[in-house]
Amino acid sequence: MGPRNNRIATALAVCGLVAAAIAAAGCGRAQTADLVKGKQLFAGKATCGSCHTLARANTQGTVGPNLDLAFQADKRDGLGQSSIRGLVEDQISHPRRGSAMPAGLVTGQSAVDVASYIAYAAARPGKDTGALATAIQPKIGPPAAAKGGVLTIPADPTGALSFTAKKATAPAGTIKFEMPNKSPIQHNLAIKGPVTGAGPIVGSGGTSTFTATLKPGTYIFYCQVPGHEAAGMKGNLVVK
Ligand code: HEC
Repeated sequence: MGPRNNRIATALAVCGLVAAAIAAAGCGRAQTADLVKGKQLFAGKATCGSCHTLARANTQGTVGPNLDLAFQADKRDGLGQSSIRGLVEDQISHPRRGSAMPAGLVTGQSAVDVASYIAYAAARPGKDTGALATAIQPKIGPPAAAKGGVLTIPADPTGALSFTAKKATAPAGTIKFEMPNKSPIQHNLAIKGPVTGAGPIVGSGGTSTFTATLKPGTYIFYCQVPGHEAAGMKGNLVVK
């Protein structure tokens, strides 16, 4: 019996035999959870996503285990969402001694929300839909304007698929493009229009840069990571 199986055995013992038979009913935990808040906390303020990969939350942290892989076997073995939620809540309040994971990053209802979102999303094929699909909303700032031959358009730092500006302006001529990436996801910056150009795809902490000689006209700036432009990671660049 591996550690994973021991964990399942413990979860079932805690819930009791009767509860095990109706595990899907939630093992006596009747609190309702807000999955949208849980997803927002996971990818944002609670910082879980900076250490953990969870595909549906678009996070790619590698300090801790990949949570899709961590709960794949549990889900395949039929462990219900409420049991997985219980395991995650235990991990949030009691990481093992000396763990890189700080204890109590979220507490109370917030811990219930985060744990419920993981229980829902981990190892679940496909993408989030409905309110969950738009749970992580970008903060759009003022238009970006080229200064001293440099145009800086940062990626949204929260993990939303967006830049922090939807509009940009630059004079014709040689411009250096810069996209600082503080989000937990990989991005790049590219332009298409009268002239094209693209910087390298960079991870968290990197900056995607390239230089282009711009002709007057209207351009689209966008991220070339598959799916990102379609999800809204783009804007208009006007060159005069
Ligand atoms: C600083 C990095 C870091 C942060 C932030 C972090 N974790 Fe972890 N997490 C870890 C590490 C490392 C482990 C491996 C086990 C251990 O050390 O306890 C882990 C283990 C886990 C596990 C168990 C996975 C398994 O294989 O069973 C879960 C679930 C988990 N974390 C959830 C969370 C949640 C939820 C948050 C946010 C509230 C979070 N983590 C924040 C580093 C982190």
